[in-house]
Amino acid sequence: MDKRASDKTRARYQRIAPVYDLMESLPEQRFKHWRRRLWSLAEGPRVLEVGVGTGKNMPFYPEEIEVTAVDLTPGMLERAGKKAKELNLDVDLRLGDVQELDFPDASFDSVVATFVFCSVADAQLGLGELQRVVKPGGKVLMLEHVRSKRPLLGVLMDLANPLVVRVMGANINRRTVDSVRESGLSIVNVEDIGMGDIFKLIVARRPS
Ligand SMILES: C[S@@+](CC[C@H](N)C(=O)[O-])C[C@H]1O[C@@H](n2cnc3c(N)ncnc32)[C@H](O)[C@@H]1O
Repeated sequence: MDKRASDKTRARYQRIAPVYDLMESLPEQRFKHWRRRLWSLAEGPRVLEVGVGTGKNMPFYPEEIEVTAVDLTPGMLERAGKKAKELNLDVDLRLGDVQELDFPDASFDSVVATFVFCSVADAQLGLGELQRVVKPGGKVLMLEHVRSKRPLLGVLMDLANPLVVRVMGANINRRTVDSVRESGLSIVNVEDIGMGDIFKLIVARRPS
């Protein structure tokens, strides 16, 4: 694992943490509907959320599940802790790296990631960990933005990527659906949910 790359990601999100919710307030008006959809598909009782950020998914956690949530960045996790308190939720929040999860194999019924794999330094390593910690037959649910397959837009996304990474900490030209397939998870459904073919709801399962 490339520790230096993860340190860079952590430093970027640590810097962004105080303004993250403000920065995202406009797109969040759309994202919140997608979050609600995603969480309606989660299967419990044990659910892991990776890259929990400031806890934007928390209002949508179904009542009957137990959530463990991990993030790489202390400043983001601290805000998630405050959000859990405000919402009176009992969430097991932990500092951790999705590329090297501190859980035994097959620990969770579902694993959720929303807008995370655009910033994980080695997405393939992280997806391999999701497949390891979810139970055989368990669900992996993701909201992600990916590189468009439209030729001109795809090239524009490649050109803009270095600047976007620097400012926002996120890559906009990842081929995350292909990466999920390569991780050994079985894709159940991929749905284009916004901006043409860019925003996706991905449903996958670990083969039984
Ligand atoms: C764009 S934010 C998304 C936060 C939240 N999931 C949401 O939907 O608002 C990406 C989050 O992923 C976290 N992250 C990036 N790389 C990570 C890694 N290797 N392990 C765990 N979390 C990571 C960042 O610290 C940040 O909080």
